[in-house]
Amino acid sequence: MGDGSVDLNKCFEVVSQLVDKAGALVAKRIQTRQEFEEKANDIDLVTATDREVEQLLIRGLLDVFPDHKFIGEEESAAGGQPNKLTDVPTWIIDPIDGTMNFVHSFPHSCISIGLKVNKVTEIGIVFNPMLGQRFTARRGQGAYLNGRRIHVSAQKELSKSLVITEFGASRDVEKMKNHFENYQNILPKVHGIRMLGAAALNLSMVAMGAVDINFEIGIHAWDVCAGELLVLEAGGVVIDPTGDKFDIMSRRVLAASSEELAQEFAKQLTQFYPQPRDD
Ligand code: IPD
Ligand code: CA
Repeated sequence: MGDGSVDLNKCFEVVSQLVDKAGALVAKRIQTRQEFEEKANDIDLVTATDREVEQLLIRGLLDVFPDHKFIGEEESAAGGQPNKLTDVPTWIIDPIDGTMNFVHSFPHSCISIGLKVNKVTEIGIVFNPMLGQRFTARRGQGAYLNGRRIHVSAQKELSKSLVITEFGASRDVEKMKNHFENYQNILPKVHGIRMLGAAALNLSMVAMGAVDINFEIGIHAWDVCAGELLVLEAGGVVIDPTGDKFDIMSRRVLAASSEELAQEFAKQLTQFYPQPRDD
C-alpha cells in the first residue's frame, strides 16, 4: 500500500492497462478524419472518441476502485459542475489532449491521466499512441519514457533555452493581444518558441529535456495534472507564471528545467489574461 489506504501499485497497474486500450482506440480512429462538435467556441472541439475514451477510463477504474472520484474534461464540459478537489483519491483525466490535432490526423495527441490522493499527485501517465511515446511517473520514483528514465535538460541560460507554449483553445481578442505581447517579449531572448498543440505533451517535452521551458495561460487541470508530476520527477520545477506557487485549478502553468530558469522566464511575462478557475 502506498499511503496506508490506497494501493498505488494496483492503481498504476490498472490504469496502465486501461491506457493501453484507450491508446489503441485513439491510434485506430486517427487514421481517418474524425467528425467533431464545437464546445465553448468553434476551435474548442470534441469528438465521439474523446467521450468514449473518457468513459472507458472512468468505468474501468470504477470497476476496481468504486470509491474513487474523477475530474474528466468531457464530463466537466457536459455537467458544468465546479471541480472540487478533495482528499479522496481523484483521477484527473484528459481523454484526448490535442483534440484539434486528432481531428486533423496530426499525430501529436495523447491520453493524459493523473491520480491525486490527499490532493498530492501520485501517478501521472501521458501516452501518445501514434508515436509510441509513453511517459510515466510515480511520486518519488522518477519519470520514464517507454520505461527508460528521463531527466530535464541542464540548461540554465534563458538565451539558450527552447520554449514551448500554445495559443490555447479560444481566439478571444483580448487574450490574443496578451499572448502576442508575451511572445514579443520572449522571442528575442530565447533560442526559439514551439507550438505543437497538446499541453500534456508540452510538459512531457520538458520532462525529457527536449525543451527547457513550457508555459501556458488558459490550460485546465486535466491538461497539466500528469505532466506536472512528470516534470517534477524528471528534476524540473512547476510554478505559476507570475513566479508564485503552482495551483492546478488556476488555469496557468510554467514548467522549466530549474527554479532559476523558471523565475528568470517568469520575469519576462507581462500579461496574465484572467480566466475563470477550474474549481
Ligand atoms: C488543449 C490543448 C492545447 C492547449 C489548450 C488545451 P484539448 O487541450 O492541449 O494545446 O493550448 O489549452 O485545452 O482541448 O485538446 O484537450
Ligand atoms: Ca481533451
